[in-house]
Amino acid sequence: MRKLFTILTITVLLIAWASVTPFVVEQTQDFWTHWVSAQMEETDEPLELDPEKVAKGRIVFEKTAGDVGCAVCHGNFGMGDLATAPNVRGVDEVRIRGALEGAEEMEFLINVLTADDIENIAQFLQFLAQFTPAEFQRRRGVFTPEIVIVPPNTDVQLIVNNIDRSECTFTFEGIDVEAEAIGGRSAEDFIWTTPEADNTFTAFCAENPEDVVTLSVEEVEDASASE
Ligand code: HEC
Repeated sequence: MRKLFTILTITVLLIAWASVTPFVVEQTQDFWTHWVSAQMEETDEPLELDPEKVAKGRIVFEKTAGDVGCAVCHGNFGMGDLATAPNVRGVDEVRIRGALEGAEEMEFLINVLTADDIENIAQFLQFLAQFTPAEFQRRRGVFTPEIVIVPPNTDVQLIVNNIDRSECTFTFEGIDVEAEAIGGRSAEDFIWTTPEADNTFTAFCAENPEDVVTLSVEEVEDASASE
């Protein structure tokens, strides 16, 4: 009888907890948002992203800066993955100005970028810093790596580098992210908030559905298994 009572109590407590949890999570997120912006005010301009500036910055970064774009050296999404220039995700205007003056390779850009360009690029790079990148490529119809490991409960930016000449309509199975065409010899990104660990999904080019890439949601090794 006592045991039954205990079980009942626990059940009631669990139900009560489940109903307040979303509220608690929301409050906690609020707390962190405020804490983060308070921290930022001390050191830097508070981060206020404007989608229009982010979009403009992306074009300048990828294509138009000095007619080549910053991406030729820093990689399409600022990851520094071309080994020609460092990762610049998350840098602010001050760092960009410093690099324009300090890095010889970037000298040709000093007089071609407007103040607006620099602000927009900083917006784009700070926008990118919100996401954990997971990059892979498609070459001759095959994805490398075949299995892409992404962390759980994270805003992930899937970056698909299409090395092939042919277009790929990148399509997800079981993931609520819209399919989008990736032109030949170009890259596209997809923002995906991953679910909990131990889930596996696939994606493929609609033109070539038998070659799939597996997206495996797994706890990253060094993260100490909390909870
Ligand atoms: C021709 C190649 C090239 C282009 C184009 C280029 N960069 Fe760079 N950039 C470099 C190199 C190389 C460095 C590293 C310089 C060093 O460490 O001395 C660098 C450094 C930087 C840094 C400093 C990184 C840090 O850790 O502080 C920033 C910021 C930066 N670049 C932003 C940009 C932006 C924004 C653009 C486009 C408007 C751009 N770069 C275009 C080659 C390039």
